[in-house]
Amino acid sequence: MLLKIEDLDCRIASSQILRACSLNVERGEIVSLLGRNGAGKTSTLKNIIGLYSPQNGKITFKDKDITTASSRARVLMGIGYSPEDSRLFPELTVAENIKLGFWISKDTERAESFDMEKAFHIFPALKNLYNRLANNLSGGEKKMVAISRALALNPSLLLLDESMEGLSPRVVKSFSEAIKTIRKDLGASVLLAESNIYNASRLADRAYIIERGEIYFEGTPQQILQDKQLLTLVGK
Ligand SMILES: Nc1ncnc2c1ncn2[C@@H]1O[C@H](COP(=O)(O)OP(=O)(O)OP(=O)(O)O)[C@@H](O)[C@H]1O
Ligand SMILES: [Mg+2]
Repeated sequence: MLLKIEDLDCRIASSQILRACSLNVERGEIVSLLGRNGAGKTSTLKNIIGLYSPQNGKITFKDKDITTASSRARVLMGIGYSPEDSRLFPELTVAENIKLGFWISKDTERAESFDMEKAFHIFPALKNLYNRLANNLSGGEKKMVAISRALALNPSLLLLDESMEGLSPRVVKSFSEAIKTIRKDLGASVLLAESNIYNASRLADRAYIIERGEIYFEGTPQQILQDKQLLTLVGK
C-alpha cells in the first residue's frame, strides 16, 4: 500500500469537514475521489499534503505514519500536489514555476540542471510556452504547469485537484493521456479529485465518492456509471 488514510476527522472552526474518512491508493493505481461541490474532496487532499490537520485518524505513506509531518517533509517523501486553482506565480515564467519545487527542497543545484524534457514529454504543448509569463497562460496551460511543477521532485504519489475542470472535451482527452503517461513512464500513482465521473472514468482504476465529508461508495467508475442514484452525486 502506498497511501492509507484511516478514519480521518477534520474540523475547521465549528464545521466538521471530514468524518471518519478512509481511503487508500496502491502503487501503480489511478484512483478518483468524486463528489459534488463542497463534499470534501479538496479537504481530503489538503489533509494528505498537510495543509489541514485532522483531529482524529491516521495517514500512512510508504509504511510511515505521516499524520503530523510537515507539508515539506511529505513533499520530500514523495507526495506531489497540484492544487485546484493551480497557484502559479503570475510574474514568473513557465520554466521558473516548474522549478519552484526545487527551491522548496533547497536543492538549487538540481533546479539549475532540471531537465525540462521531462515536463515536455508529459505535456508537449509546454515546449513552446516555457519562457512565457504564467500570467499570460490559458486555464488549461496553467494546469499543465501546476502538474509539471508537482512532478519536478519525482513524486511516487501525485495529488491532482480538479485538473480537468473547465477544459474542453478535446483537452480533457489529452490530459487523460498525459496522466496515463505519468503512471506508465514516471511510475507515479495518482489520486484525482474530480466532480465529473465522465472525466474520471476515462482513466481511473478505482473510485471513491465522498458526500458531506464521508466516504459513501468505493468501487469502479463503471459501477457508478451504471447506478442512477450514485450518478446524482457525481454526474454532470
Ligand atoms: N478553510 C476552511 N474554512 C471553513 N470551511 C471550509 C474550509 N475548507 C473547506 N471548508 C468547508 O468544507 C466543506 C468541504 O469543502 P471542500 O473544498 O473540501 O469541498 P470540495 O469537494 O473540494 O468542493 P469543490 O467541488 O467545490 O471544490 C465545504 O462545506 C467547505 O465550505
Ligand atoms: Mg475542491
